[in-house]
Amino acid sequence: MAIQRTLSIIKPDATRRNLTGQIIARLEQGGLHVIAQKRLRLTREQAERFYAVHASRSFFNDLCTFMTSGPVVVQVLEGDDAIARNRRVMGSTNPANAEAGTIRKDFGESIEANSVHGSDSPDTAAQEIRFFFAEMEIAG
Ligand code: RTP
Ligand code: MG
Repeated sequence: MAIQRTLSIIKPDATRRNLTGQIIARLEQGGLHVIAQKRLRLTREQAERFYAVHASRSFFNDLCTFMTSGPVVVQVLEGDDAIARNRRVMGSTNPANAEAGTIRKDFGESIEANSVHGSDSPDTAAQEIRFFFAEMEIAG
């Protein structure tokens, strides 16, 4: 597989429990390199824009409330097959169904408060990276 970049977010449930370092260690152990990173608090408008694809879903309002409930860490990850690799390290959306040893299995609190986000395709990865980072903030 080719070297790819993907957008990762450590969500407010994880920053609140001081799990940032443990989650980054899991990503690095999984073969992903952090090539850009910052901690910030999303505004409502930013959360709604980031998750616009889910605007018609029943969980959209709750999701935006959750994602603005505390700081997040946004980061660009690079590595071989990084998009699928990151999602394997993350585990299934619902922590109850996530595979043993994944971030969501070990740290996720609920289907909503599931500790991490990862881009789901090359197109969304490029769009999500652009959403948060300028080219000069990425050092691969
Ligand atoms: P993500 O986008 O955060 O990496 O997660 P994902 O692809 O595994 O899941 P997705 O379907 O894109 O959903 C985005 C986020 O919305 C919240 N969610 N809540 N209450 C619910 O039924 C529900 N379903 C999804 C989760 O925070 C999920 O990660
Ligand atoms: Mg998704």
